[in-house]
Amino acid sequence: MNKRFLFVCLGNICRSPAAHGIMDKMVAEKGLDADVVIDSAGTYGGHAGELPDPRMRAAASKRRYDLRHRSRQFRAPDFDDFDLIVVMDDSNYDRVCRLAPDRESLDRVVRMTDYCTRFTVDHVPDPYYDGERGFEHVLDILEDAVANLIDKEVER
Ligand code: 4NP
Repeated sequence: MNKRFLFVCLGNICRSPAAHGIMDKMVAEKGLDADVVIDSAGTYGGHAGELPDPRMRAAASKRRYDLRHRSRQFRAPDFDDFDLIVVMDDSNYDRVCRLAPDRESLDRVVRMTDYCTRFTVDHVPDPYYDGERGFEHVLDILEDAVANLIDKEVER
């Protein structure tokens, strides 16, 4: 059976669509695309319908990630549609958990940085108000985390 992953950040135009694009490429390279469903969403709906931030698309494109996701807001039915909800920071965690219908759903909300092995960080920093280096740093953290997420949650 497919395992379904939903990445969540605030605006769904920087961090979570990047995680989404990185995972798309990594599972394709491993021939695991048929085993997973991947999507992303934001706790804030103000960017709904937009492509990822041009700064994130440019940084991701240099690493051969093609980010085409259109932003959408996280909603309670996502708990039914996804097995694992992977958040970027504590604020995302709190907002997503507030919409959880039951205890079992809460247990399926996890932090992206819990999968990091090369970085000792407890959240993926919001790059929206940062310069170019912020976007590169986010991609470095996400590449580390997504590789280990695939290892632990898909290939296991
Ligand atoms: P993201 O970044 O949560 O990584 O997509 C942000 C995008 C938009 C805003 C904040 C963070 N914003 O305030 O509109």
